Amino acid sequence: MDRTTQLTALRPGTSTPRAVDVYDPAAPANALHRRAAAVLADNWTGLSTVPSRKLYPHQWSWDSAFIAIGLRHLSPLRAQTELETLLGAQWGDGRIPHIVFNPAVPLDAYFPSPDFWRSSTAGRAAGAPRTTQTSGIVQPPVHALAAWLVHESDPGLSRARGFLPRVYPRLAAWHRYLLHRRDLGGAGLASVVHPWEQGMDNSPTWDAPLARITPAPARSFRRADLDHGAAEDRPTDLDYGRYVRLATDYRDRGYADGEGDFAVEDPAFNALLIASEHALARIAEELGALGAARHARAERLTATLVERLWDPAEGMFFCRDVTTDAVVPERSVSGLLPLLLPGLSRDIATTLVRTLHGLRFGLGDTTRLAPSYDLTGEAFDPHRYWRGPAWFNTNWLLERGLRLHGELGRADALRAELLDTAGASGFAEYVDPYTGEACGALGFSWTAALTLDLLHQQQGEDLHVRLSDQGGDRA
Ligand code: SER
Repeated sequence: MDRTTQLTALRPGTSTPRAVDVYDPAAPANALHRRAAAVLADNWTGLSTVPSRKLYPHQWSWDSAFIAIGLRHLSPLRAQTELETLLGAQWGDGRIPHIVFNPAVPLDAYFPSPDFWRSSTAGRAAGAPRTTQTSGIVQPPVHALAAWLVHESDPGLSRARGFLPRVYPRLAAWHRYLLHRRDLGGAGLASVVHPWEQGMDNSPTWDAPLARITPAPARSFRRADLDHGAAEDRPTDLDYGRYVRLATDYRDRGYADGEGDFAVEDPAFNALLIASEHALARIAEELGALGAARHARAERLTATLVERLWDPAEGMFFCRDVTTDAVVPERSVSGLLPLLLPGLSRDIATTLVRTLHGLRFGLGDTTRLAPSYDLTGEAFDPHRYWRGPAWFNTNWLLERGLRLHGELGRADALRAELLDTAGASGFAEYVDPYTGEACGALGFSWTAALTLDLLHQQQGEDLHVRLSDQGGDRA
């Protein structure tokens, strides 16, 4: 693909002013733009976007945040609606559920379905909504970051609709929930209580903490994912048995926190929380309040993240199993994602960039996109969900991190590869990191959304300078 054309051909009316100025309908960027927009149109339900029509037919929490980040370039109103629909299902204790169920979708279309989670009854003490059915676990907190980016795409509309004043208290309650109820390790970081919460469901990182969990019997549930996805691309039945056991136990405790058998501090989950805390500070400032305390908290959390999870000898971050208070020695892409934090020392940022481009992740050398797991690890599998394939959201976050830390050439190269691979794979859910071969679902919403976001970003953009212009060295 001709990169110069790609970067200069978007229609001015549909892009942010800084993206481009000449519209050439024949340019590859416009075809890609149209195709990505079509995926999001197909997956739009009227109030939110499904990640994939068949495999994931409801609203997912972190998917919606990434989707809103792309949708803002097509329709800031739809992007606001996406986030507000999700926030409308928030629980009284502040948690944002990982799935908001669409009542029009048959129960057997997705497992675990609403009758498994029983949120409105089992979650009553935790303040689950009475009528909307949701799951009871959470997903990574990308939402405040998404809300800020959505606001920025059309501040006039955002102010006219009172978007930020409406979402701010909900986002603040969400962060309070994570920072207090989920500080299970007692050091200030949030813990996840289920692999689905961190989002990288079957990452080898979870193998050891999950090995302690007795799987639910295979005959006690029926997976729906295998009706729509190839078994070799999906988690195993044994993993599913353990996911079901953990979720059942949590439900049967009324979704009360702090008593389960699985609690892990994860670098990506916490890095996203910190980035979102910085974004929440900016939202507070936009609303005329002081953001300094939130920025300071984000900086303190960055220091705690380094203290608890950084390994200088390995050049990356690792998970900490809170139950055993031991580091989990598995190298997942999660351990590179703190690169998106502005408060990292230069030394750590440089080391992370080296690890990303080194033997284990091979970016720009052996791999086209960063794999989800160590290429040299025994558990590596280039096709099985989070055990090796490359995902678009993690690579988008890495692109942002590279740009933030002044690695503009590397960021531009990753951006170009993401655009090529997204288009060539039919906006696949994930791809073989070596070949870019499509895996999982096609027409996947966040792949299309993040493609749009990258198309609207200028090559060579220095995120550090842009954020500094907006009032400080902050993301
Ligand atoms: N990612 C999970 C699934 O495959 C749960 O959110 O359904």
